[in-house]
Amino acid sequence: MVLTDFSVNSGAVFTEAIGNDRLDLLTDYPFTRLANLLAPITPRANVAPILLTVGEPQHTPPSIIEETLRATASGWNKYPPVGGTPEFRAAVGDWLARRYELPAGLLHADSSVLPLSGTREALFMLALLAVPTQKAGRQPAVLMPNPFYAPYEGAAVMAGAEPVFLSATRETGFLPDLDALTPELLERTALFYLCTPANPQGAAATPAYLAKAIGLARQYGFVLAVDECYAEIWLDTPPVGALQVAVSLPHEDGKPWANLLVFHSLSKRSSAAGLRSGFVAGDPALIGRFSRLRSYGCAGMPLPILAASTALWRDEAHVEENRAAYRAKFAAAEAELGGRYGYYRPAGGFFLWLEVGNGEEAAKRLWAEGAVRVLPGAYLSRNNPGEANPGEAFIRVALVQDADTVAQACASIVRILG
Ligand SMILES: Cc1ncc(COP(=O)(O)O)c(C=O)c1O
Repeated sequence: MVLTDFSVNSGAVFTEAIGNDRLDLLTDYPFTRLANLLAPITPRANVAPILLTVGEPQHTPPSIIEETLRATASGWNKYPPVGGTPEFRAAVGDWLARRYELPAGLLHADSSVLPLSGTREALFMLALLAVPTQKAGRQPAVLMPNPFYAPYEGAAVMAGAEPVFLSATRETGFLPDLDALTPELLERTALFYLCTPANPQGAAATPAYLAKAIGLARQYGFVLAVDECYAEIWLDTPPVGALQVAVSLPHEDGKPWANLLVFHSLSKRSSAAGLRSGFVAGDPALIGRFSRLRSYGCAGMPLPILAASTALWRDEAHVEENRAAYRAKFAAAEAELGGRYGYYRPAGGFFLWLEVGNGEEAAKRLWAEGAVRVLPGAYLSRNNPGEANPGEAFIRVALVQDADTVAQACASIVRILG
């Protein structure tokens, strides 16, 4: 959509939307809404702001990045290949096999892996791949948890599907209740976005849960996209992944990952959100079609970034350091917040999902009285008719600053919200 400003005789300015009217079905992006909410509020003087909104780790990125970019700078004048380099694909394939204990030689990285310039763009583009004109003679549905990562909804809507928001509350273990999905809905489902560990609640799907989701994808012929971009930020045990679960299920010969794609990112694992680097892996048939689509529309990952990413996927030391930093931050948060606002230690990710009564009001008070910036849960969720909005009573707090700053922010939360 293009916004055109018209000046009229009165001197007033109005705006007329032209172009794709599906865009008008979307709200502003969560961070734009937050900026609008807090813009009229000036925090108390002499308090340094603490920003805990964007999931952008503030840890120093590993030196591997700078070293590799310098050594491969001759690649900046080349258009990047959509499929990346064999070295990148091999590093990802080896990492997946190691991390998820895949049987040796099962994953053929050249046909099962594509580089992504950050997972957001590909999670969005995926809907263009997965959503047909009609499914079961009706408008296709795209399923997603509620609350959810905003691009899932944007993708569904812009691809002409109906986004279906599946409540993920404390009662459902903070993941959608798969048993509540009706055959009527599943028959017209084209795509299901699952996030594990979940943003914002940090819940990790069990093998049985993932097995059920994969089974449904195969039974009803839809694409299951498992967003595992927080998979490497865990406190006690590494969350199970969808690829490893799929391998253990009965499957057609040579097709362990039918209907399944998983998404991984270096933004969180390697504290490198600015590198814009991730990958998608899984069903070679889908990867092949995705590659064809991406030839038309993806930015491609520049060769120096492919080289840096290759080195990062081959290194675990910096990831372990990161996890240690998050453990310290959760310990600091727990010391202040334990026993309040439904605090719990998430299985993965780096968010606190705190039940504070009214998330928007809490966000405003925290900004006004403590210069602590958090995200109202309702900006990540939608109302379903007849149901409570599962984000309304919550705030999301991203533990992206250091442990001392986290402790200070959590102390402010308790002081201000009581
Ligand atoms: C659930 C989830 N998926 C995907 C992403 C996208 O990450 P990136 O595009 O940096 O890989 C994010 C980023 O915040 C996220 O929270």
